[in-house]
Amino acid sequence: MNDKKFYITTPIYYPSDKLHIGHAYCTVATDAMARYKRLCGYDVMFLTGTDEHGQKIEDKAKEAGVTPKEYVDNIVEGPKGVLDLWKLMNISNDRFIRTTDGYHVSAIQKIFKQMYDNGDIYKGTYKGKYCKPCESFWTESQLVDGKCPDCGRDVVDAEEEAYFFRLSMYADRVRRLLEDTDFLEPRSRVHEMVNNFIKPGLEDLCVSRTSFTWGIPVDFDPGHVVYVWIDALSNYITALGFMNDRYDDYEKYWPADVHFVGKEIVRFHSIIWPAMLMSLGEPLPKKVYGHGWLLLGGGKMSKSKGNIVDPYLLSERYGVDALRFFLLRSFPFGSDGNFTNELLIQTINVDLANDLGNLVSRTTAMAEKYFGGKLPEAKQSAELDKELISLTTGLRARYEEQMERFQFQNALEEVFKVVQRANKYIDENAPWTLAKDMEANGPRLAHVLYNLLETVRVCTVLLTPFMPESCEKIFAQIGAGPDAQTWDSAAQWGVLPAAVSVAKGENLFPRIDLNKELAELDRIQEEAKKAALPAIEIEPQLEEKVDFDTFCKSDFRAVKVKDCQNVKKSDKLLKFTLDDGTGADRQILSGIAKWYKPEELIGKTLVAIVNLPPRKMMGQESQGMLISAVHTEKGEECLHLLMVDDAIPAGAKLC
Ligand code: ME8
Ligand code: MG
Repeated sequence: MNDKKFYITTPIYYPSDKLHIGHAYCTVATDAMARYKRLCGYDVMFLTGTDEHGQKIEDKAKEAGVTPKEYVDNIVEGPKGVLDLWKLMNISNDRFIRTTDGYHVSAIQKIFKQMYDNGDIYKGTYKGKYCKPCESFWTESQLVDGKCPDCGRDVVDAEEEAYFFRLSMYADRVRRLLEDTDFLEPRSRVHEMVNNFIKPGLEDLCVSRTSFTWGIPVDFDPGHVVYVWIDALSNYITALGFMNDRYDDYEKYWPADVHFVGKEIVRFHSIIWPAMLMSLGEPLPKKVYGHGWLLLGGGKMSKSKGNIVDPYLLSERYGVDALRFFLLRSFPFGSDGNFTNELLIQTINVDLANDLGNLVSRTTAMAEKYFGGKLPEAKQSAELDKELISLTTGLRARYEEQMERFQFQNALEEVFKVVQRANKYIDENAPWTLAKDMEANGPRLAHVLYNLLETVRVCTVLLTPFMPESCEKIFAQIGAGPDAQTWDSAAQWGVLPAAVSVAKGENLFPRIDLNKELAELDRIQEEAKKAALPAIEIEPQLEEKVDFDTFCKSDFRAVKVKDCQNVKKSDKLLKFTLDDGTGADRQILSGIAKWYKPEELIGKTLVAIVNLPPRKMMGQESQGMLISAVHTEKGEECLHLLMVDDAIPAGAKLC
């Protein structure tokens, strides 16, 4: 039996909308950590899942005209749903929990009852702001300009009967946990929690609702559903079998080694969760790590803002491994990072195409070119090799130090320093020059290539948690068998067989033309925007009334087009010569050249308002205005001149 165990979790996601790249961020980080620990020989339990109850999901389902369960089933299990996304991103979770799973539901009822029986949950009244049309309670701070944040209508003071958790009783113990231990990281989050929430006084937490039904029923008090953090947080233990028979791993894996969570839910994980476990008399998790957000143009990611954030589209264009790598290479895990398509493409070009891709393809190409793919055993070392070798053999320790602190960016930085050093080593040794005299320099050339292969091998072992599929391909290219892919082997030199066989393969990370690609992404986004627009949009009617007399002052007449021409130097204006029944020609300019060719309008009967004051446009006078109908179609403005029956004589008044 393996006594090195590692239990790691992601937050369970709300399946209220499809997930975006920001959601994938935490799950990819957790996956890299889980794979790293497996590589180190740990027995890993990696849990993720979905948090499926609550008002928001009830509302969304109602809007969609389905039951809440049907709604979440579709987002979790349906096409391009949560499960599909994790499969696409190559997420190696060992277990997946849905809070609607029967075993979880009954375990939550037992947990709630136990906390009630030991006096930590009691009945009281929940006071808040209530929006009647939405049937929602809000706290003062959730209101927007004093109104319901969902519908913008007035709210009223209201009360409902609710259960409360005596969080206040645990304030001191939680404070000591935060201040005196490394329970919560990064450390900056500790001060935030203590100063903002504990020092001002922890209030008891409302843990049930009667105003909606989509939740786990409190079985001893019908009408109440568990709301919502007891339900959500407990997933980390029910998924191991706590208070249920579905699983049997609680003794084995609990307490968790680390919960990875986004910074906005650190509060629930570092204050409420330990207090709940104290109330249940269960061990506390060893660590909560609060990571930052991926920001888009400075705000938390949402689908409505610029840039492409659809993980399906991104991984289709750049590959899953490039995307996984980018997320952990470009941003420090504990802080916010600004996501842009440009940064993504540049990271791929610099690190993956230029540095790593180039090193692998140059090394394997030279082994093929100079030795037919199989290195001779005869080798010749030189002073020049020492630095590369010691840098490479020391890499695992430097990498490990960063990985153990969840500093993925730094761990990757260490690997890429070695990759860059190896590229420089190629230039220093100029294999192409050595190859000019194989008889004299063949053994040295073989040695240079062997050193490069060993360096690639060690880097690839350490990159495996980040880019599992690409690393497998690199191992195949450099002839590294299973023994040359292990954690142990990553701290050793000379693991590849002396007569290693190499096979240059496909280019793993093709360079992307930045400007062309950005233009293409813009185009894709424009199309997506158009597709999302309503087919036809009509201007809303004005509320403001015009009195009848004012209206009657507008003089509308039928007019016949005698002549129509483009106005020079204007791509908008057409110049009309019109018969308005008075005998004199009337000239009107109209900005409709985008929609009509002049010749198609000659002879038509149109409608004009003729008593507007004359206006000058492009140096020419316009005596009135032609009437047209306008609307928007797929985001495009559309215009149709109002044309009437040619039997109507020029000058006829319209009223
Ligand atoms: O909060 N950048 O679920 P959730 C980084 N159900 N992380 C992001 C992100 C972004 N742009 N957008 C979302 C919940 N996340 C609860 C958790 S746990 C017992 C219950 C992260 O779907 C976010 O920070 O709203 C959170 O950690 C996770 O995605 C799930 O968010
Ligand atoms: Mg959230």
